[in-house]
Amino acid sequence: MRMDWPELKAKVASCVDCPLHAKRNKTVFGVGDENANWLFVGEGPGADEDAQGEPFVGQAGKLLDNMLAAIKLKRGHNVYIANVVKCRAPGNRNPQPEEALACEPYLHRQIELIKPRLIIALGKVAAVNLLAREASIASLRGRLHQYRGIPLVVTYHPAYLLRSLGDKAKAWADLCFAVDTMKDLQTGAPAPTLYENV
Ligand code: URA
Ligand code: SF4
Repeated sequence: MRMDWPELKAKVASCVDCPLHAKRNKTVFGVGDENANWLFVGEGPGADEDAQGEPFVGQAGKLLDNMLAAIKLKRGHNVYIANVVKCRAPGNRNPQPEEALACEPYLHRQIELIKPRLIIALGKVAAVNLLAREASIASLRGRLHQYRGIPLVVTYHPAYLLRSLGDKAKAWADLCFAVDTMKDLQTGAPAPTLYENV
């Protein structure tokens, strides 16, 4: 896929490549700085996102904005936010592997165009799809992975954190790890831990 931004946006807006198109209200392409160093990837639109056409605008989105603020980032400023699937799955079920696979070329092209320095996978669906292997969040967090050569760290999904306040400290540790990793990437210091090849 070699589309530029306008072509890519138009293609997603009219996409019917998987069954999720049938019940969506709006496609949720992604939002932010198209040259961002930071890319946050979630699972897929919920009800609020489906209504508004923008990622992470509901309760989980508020928490994501707070997480960004905690590491001195702001939506749209050096940050891009996208999802594995661009259309809402009915009842907020997880996207099926076939649906994620059908939608993957769009996220992949977004990543090619943005060229982020670091990807943060929010939750298991994002992590498993980006890393193309099954694994638990517990086993993936705290280490540096990569998506097609781009460093990637894994943390909990904000919607999960809203239900499991006890894991907020771990998410904070993950964000600190991400900040340290970004610093290392910018100063050319050796990566703090081994890259996991996918
Ligand atoms: N959850 C996600 O994974 N993505 C959104 O855009 C909103 C909620
Ligand atoms: Fe197309 Fe992705 Fe929406 Fe499926 S989820 S219809 S592949 S844009």
